[in-house]
Amino acid sequence: MDAFVIEGGRRLKGRVSVNGSKNAALPIMAAALLADGPLTLHDVPDLSDIQNMARLLGELGCKVAFTDDGHMRLEVIDDLNCQARYDIVRTMRASICVLGPLLAKRGKATVSMPGGCAIGERPIDLHLRGLRQLGAEIELSGGELVATARELRGAKVFLGGTFGSTVLGTANIMSAATLAKGTTVIESAACEPEVVDLANVLNAMGAHVRGAGTPRIVVEGVEKLRGVEHTVMPDRIEAGTYMCAAAATNGDVTIDNCPLDAMAAVADRLEGIGISLDIVDGSDPMRAAVSVGSARRLEPIAVTTQPYPGFPTDLQAQLMALLTLADGNSMITEKVFPERFLHVAELSRMGAALYRQGPTVMVSGVKKLIGAPVMASDLRASAGLVLAGLAAKGPTTVNRVYHLDRGYEKMDQRLRALGAQIERVKMT
Ligand code: EPU
Repeated sequence: MDAFVIEGGRRLKGRVSVNGSKNAALPIMAAALLADGPLTLHDVPDLSDIQNMARLLGELGCKVAFTDDGHMRLEVIDDLNCQARYDIVRTMRASICVLGPLLAKRGKATVSMPGGCAIGERPIDLHLRGLRQLGAEIELSGGELVATARELRGAKVFLGGTFGSTVLGTANIMSAATLAKGTTVIESAACEPEVVDLANVLNAMGAHVRGAGTPRIVVEGVEKLRGVEHTVMPDRIEAGTYMCAAAATNGDVTIDNCPLDAMAAVADRLEGIGISLDIVDGSDPMRAAVSVGSARRLEPIAVTTQPYPGFPTDLQAQLMALLTLADGNSMITEKVFPERFLHVAELSRMGAALYRQGPTVMVSGVKKLIGAPVMASDLRASAGLVLAGLAAKGPTTVNRVYHLDRGYEKMDQRLRALGAQIERVKMT
């Protein structure tokens, strides 16, 4: 198993370009199941979650090929197998994305029920409720969701849950509705930019989706969809992570291909801490060049994670790592996954002063963090620990970085290019 060994204390300097978004790419890849022709995707990041999705689609008869110039081509060549096995689903919850497309196109799907997860319970009741409202019959049998639908029919679907809407649930229902008979209205839809990216692909494929990016999405069903080419949006979470890394090391980093237009809450909170974000090139606000500079003194802030356009839960751990070094007490409240605090105990091992009560953590800033061996079994928590390691005094070993590799392409190499002292080592 690989680990990162970091010698902290180096200021990050230079340029880094943001990759295509994992969370946009995964449901878009699943949408290839809907098309009667090849879907060619540009800027798909090279991550283990993407490979897992490619493997799953392969089992479902969708040939996934990487072209010579680094693009991904997906084409259904066989529609007999409709089963997403537990072996794959348990490694990647986003496997649930194939449920809507399979039902819509093939009239049936068996998808292993996703189990527990390091960041909380993560139920899928809203996905199932939505698909049932479109006319699907879904039963749970031996840990498998067995879904059938002679035909899906447009309907009014409400996707609001206890913690707000659901991103992948919206993707599932919206994708399924493209081939349903009649009109589907999704109320309380997730407004995340990744949902908009998916809607853009579906519309290019011939679907009629309106309102993506707002809480009300209207989908007029069509007979069939065609293959198209699409460039996946840049990853706002990766961009935010490098912003926090620059700030935590008092660095000076320019972030290219930055989807700043989709990062208003992040920019607002970072500016509150005293981080400057200067637009070097804003001609395309979803692919801007942004210079990140940080003040020597970091101000404490209060932040609450929320569905988009609020502050993203996927940046909560990285922000916490940064706030451990602020001059005063910060408050972080997690409203999307209230149990997503695996990094708290690990950051404490590095000298951070953190006090958790339920979904809120008070971060009492310290003068310095001290390197230590740490580990977290969640992708973003691990990213927070890497950031802490970059800022800490002495060596930090972040164990089990396969969690990081799920969502950050070559993070070690990219940080090294910015001047960090970080090595990937094999641990026995
Ligand atoms: N929820 C329900 N019922 C459902 C679905 C969700 O109660 O049927 C709850 C969840 O338990 C959670 C909240 O609703 O409290 C939001 O969950 P959501 O369904 O939006 O999460 P998701 O779609 O499964 C995606 C991202 C996550 C990201 C969340 C929230 C992908 C592949 N995953 O998950 O990304 O944290 O949205 O923004 O897009 C990550 O990249 O590290 C990651 C975990």
